[in-house]
Amino acid sequence: MTASAPSSDSAALLERYLNPDTCPTDRLEPLPLIEEPAFVSWQQDIPRSYLGLPPEEIELRIRSARAILGERLVILGHHYQRDEVIQYADFTGDSFKLAQHAAKQQGIEFVLFCGVHFMAESADILTPPGVSVVLPNMEAGCSMADMADPGDVYAAWDEMQACLDPSKRIIPVTYMNSAASLKAFVGKREGIVCTSSNAPKTFEYAFERGEKVLFFPDQHLGRNTGYKMGIPLEEMVTWDWRRPLGGLTPDQIEKARVILWKGHCSTHQRFSVDQIEKARSEYPDLNVIVHPECSWEVVEAADASGSTEQIIKTVSDAEAGTAWGIGTEINLVKRLADEHPDKTIFCLDPVVCPCSTMYRIHPAYLAWTLERLTQGEIVNRVEVDTKTRKWSLVALERMLALP
Ligand code: 13P
Repeated sequence: MTASAPSSDSAALLERYLNPDTCPTDRLEPLPLIEEPAFVSWQQDIPRSYLGLPPEEIELRIRSARAILGERLVILGHHYQRDEVIQYADFTGDSFKLAQHAAKQQGIEFVLFCGVHFMAESADILTPPGVSVVLPNMEAGCSMADMADPGDVYAAWDEMQACLDPSKRIIPVTYMNSAASLKAFVGKREGIVCTSSNAPKTFEYAFERGEKVLFFPDQHLGRNTGYKMGIPLEEMVTWDWRRPLGGLTPDQIEKARVILWKGHCSTHQRFSVDQIEKARSEYPDLNVIVHPECSWEVVEAADASGSTEQIIKTVSDAEAGTAWGIGTEINLVKRLADEHPDKTIFCLDPVVCPCSTMYRIHPAYLAWTLERLTQGEIVNRVEVDTKTRKWSLVALERMLALP
């Protein structure tokens, strides 16, 4: 049976959900799926019987299905997942650590990936061929990853090569937040995948092999990484894929050391220097730590930046009584605050705005996909084709092999 959108004013809800200046989620407590305002744009073909299940019943059903599947299944959970989902994860991590966990799995049949589509694809590439990777809600994508359409990247690559001296080699580096086909593209061209926890090492890898780096899709992670390695801002140009030659001149491309794809993360783009200044005025001894997907100005104004895992470690290791203003997704920040009542921990963005695509993993989808697995049916399998797998695995393994 196919579920339909939960309310008659779904068009208004959808508009509200898609408006970047608002957030339809102003609370983080568990709700039945049907009461989630954003369900209107989530995977709709979950059977209707799951829509109204109260949180306590969903929990019982997930635990029972999990017990039946036993060691045949591993659940991986990204730090941005909500509390009522992350509690089921066998392993949690940032995208690098989760890739390492996927690569280590042996003797299992299924990975349930509580994260977004590109992470599940990477898990499928890294796990042995007999393992099926399931993404509970197939609409859990990443808007930043979608900003690098493979066709646009291939065309941009050809355009920039055409205006460069052939002796000048460009090494492509793709952020983990990208389609598997783009990971294969960089794999074939001596490039590498990076995550926010190892971007400087991947730049070093690239500059050992070429004069220039093409970095996609997140301009901010690329710019912050290049700048911290001593590359001046003027030597990093932004390629706007909507414009001929990326909106650049051949001379700008020739002089650039880093070419940054014009993509961004909608959640991290919300953080501003004003927020940091306001927070510092309220807490004079405040420590500010942000994710490197924030803008260059925000990262420079902060005391530190790092991946989700690095943020968690830094704040967890800090002394009791310290105060932390954090620039990353709210579920992670709220969990850190709950786990460390001896510290002052808050999100720099006053609007409670979870990563809208990570938030799509609602427990009802876990119950549905797990119960189907117990019945011998795999729903929502994420499977990378053999050809794409070959070269994307090369690019991922280069990253995993970095010292
Ligand atoms: P981390 O690798 O830091 O967990 O980041 C993943 C991500 O998608 C951030 O938007």
